[in-house]
This record gives sequence, C-alpha cells and structure tokens, in this order.
Amino acid sequence: MRRPVHRFDLLTIILHWLIAALILGLIILGFVMTRPSIDPVLQFSLFQWHKSLGMLALLFAMARFVHSVIRVRVEPVGGMKPLEHLLAKTTHGILLALSILVPLAGWMIASVSPLEIPTFAFNLIVVPHLPVPKSYAAETWWATAHAVLAYSTLALVFLHSSASLYHHYWRRDDVLTRMLNKERRLIEPSAKEPTS
Ligand code: HEM
Ligand code: HEM
Repeated sequence: MRRPVHRFDLLTIILHWLIAALILGLIILGFVMTRPSIDPVLQFSLFQWHKSLGMLALLFAMARFVHSVIRVRVEPVGGMKPLEHLLAKTTHGILLALSILVPLAGWMIASVSPLEIPTFAFNLIVVPHLPVPKSYAAETWWATAHAVLAYSTLALVFLHSSASLYHHYWRRDDVLTRMLNKERRLIEPSAKEPTS
C-alpha cells in the first residue's frame, strides 16, 4: 500500500474548484430561472443552460469520485484533533455524494416530466432521458427533492468554506492553502503556533 501524502494532486485541486464554481453558479441560476415573474422565452433558454451546465457538473463529479477512490490518501493537516478530522472527512463525503445526487435528481425531473422537453447540452447533443415512467406527480416529487438537495448543499458549503477560512485566518494552518496548491509553510504537527 502506498504511503499517504501531505498535498493534494493537481487534478484533485482543479476538479474541486471547477465543481465548486459550477455548483454555486447552478444554484444561483436555478433560483433565478424558477421565479414566476420571468419572461418565458428567457426562462426556456436559462433552463437549457442550467441543464447543460448541470450535466457537465455531473460528469466532473463522477470523475472526481473515481479519482478520490484511486488516488493516494492525503493525510490531515498537522495539529488537527481526531474529532475535527472525522468531522471534515464526513462533510467531504456528504459533499461528494451531494455533488452527484443533485444533478441526478435534476436529470430525473427532465426524464419523468410528461412534457418530454429535450435537453440540448450546449446545443451540441441531446441528452437522453432516463428510462422511467412519466407523470406530473413524479415531476413535482423530483423537483422538490432536487431543490431540497441543492439548498442543503448550499448550507453545507457555507459551513465547509467557513471552516476553511477559520483554519486559514485563526489556526493559520495549511488547510486552505494546500487546496490552492501553495502551502505557506511545511506542515508541522503544532499548527497553532504563531507565524510572522
Ligand atoms: C450540481 C448540479 C445542479 C444544481 C446545484 C442545481 C440546482 C438547482 C436549483 C437551486 C434549482 C431551483 C430550485 C427551486 O428553487 O425550486 C434547480 C431547478 C431545476 N433544475 Fe437543477 N441543479 C443542478 C443540475 C441539474 C440538472 C443536471 C438538471 C437536468 C438535466 C437540472 C434540472 C432542473 C430543473 C428542470 C429545475 C426546475 C424545477 C422546477 O420546475 O421547479 N438541474 N436546480
Ligand atoms: C467555494 C467554497 C469552497 C471552499 C472555500 C472550499 C474549501 C476547501 C478546502 C480548503 C479543502 C481542503 C481541506 C483539507 O485540506 O483537508 C476542501 C476540500 C474538499 N471540498 Fe471544498 N470548498 C468549497 C466548495 C466546495 C464544494 C461546492 C464542494 C462540493 C459540493 C466541495 C467539496 C470538497 C471535498 C469533497 C473536499 C475533500 C477533497 C476532495 O476530495 O476534493 N467544496 N474544500
């Protein structure tokens, strides 16, 4: 078995920030496009952009999941208590799962809808619907599930990014900098010591 490492590899870092940007952008877009007052022509176009970018987010999230299984294990930053490490690992696991479940639930809305509106991914290909029975009741159920999962992701991302800022500005360790590929110092066991 390979020894754990201190740093994230470049692919992990690129996928992390790409998926983070896509998810946050898609939540804003999803919220805006579902406002009742929006012009129907604009709404159709925003829905198509939302579904295209959402399918892209699903592809990246699946690639990231496979990569997280096969990559070398990354050690916790020095100075982390076992409970903190457990909390961080659990949050990352839930975020990883949500980044796949949210777009899957979105794909289900499009697939169960009796309106059968096609998804033109970036106007290049038509994304096939999943082979599931269609009904308005199922469409409402999946739209609610999609919204609940998406807004729960937002709440968890708020906690997750607040934790990384706490580590950066208060604990002054490398939790945030190593996800930016530029550690400010070598990882030491006593991370709470003042720097200057
Ligand atoms: C990570 C990816 C995604 C995120 C974060 C996301 C987020 C959201 C959000 C926040 C809403 C608004 C919910 C509301 O306020 O009612 C929404 C609506 C919607 N999303 Fe997504 N979405 C994603 C992927 C997808 C995908 C891949 C599809 C389809 C292929 C999709 C289809 C839809 C549809 C059809 C609605 C409107 C539902 C309704 O009529 O109420 N989404 N999404
Ligand atoms: C935009 C705000 C975000 C910030 C500031 C942020 C920050 C970070 C930092 C600093 C780490 C490294 C933790 C460590 O060193 O152990 C990390 C890891 C992680 N983050 Fe985020 N993150 C954000 C958004 C997201 C989003 C939207 C997701 C997914 C829904 C996510 C999922 C993860 C996961 C799964 C890890 C574990 C490493 C990996 O497998 O990629 N993060 N994040």
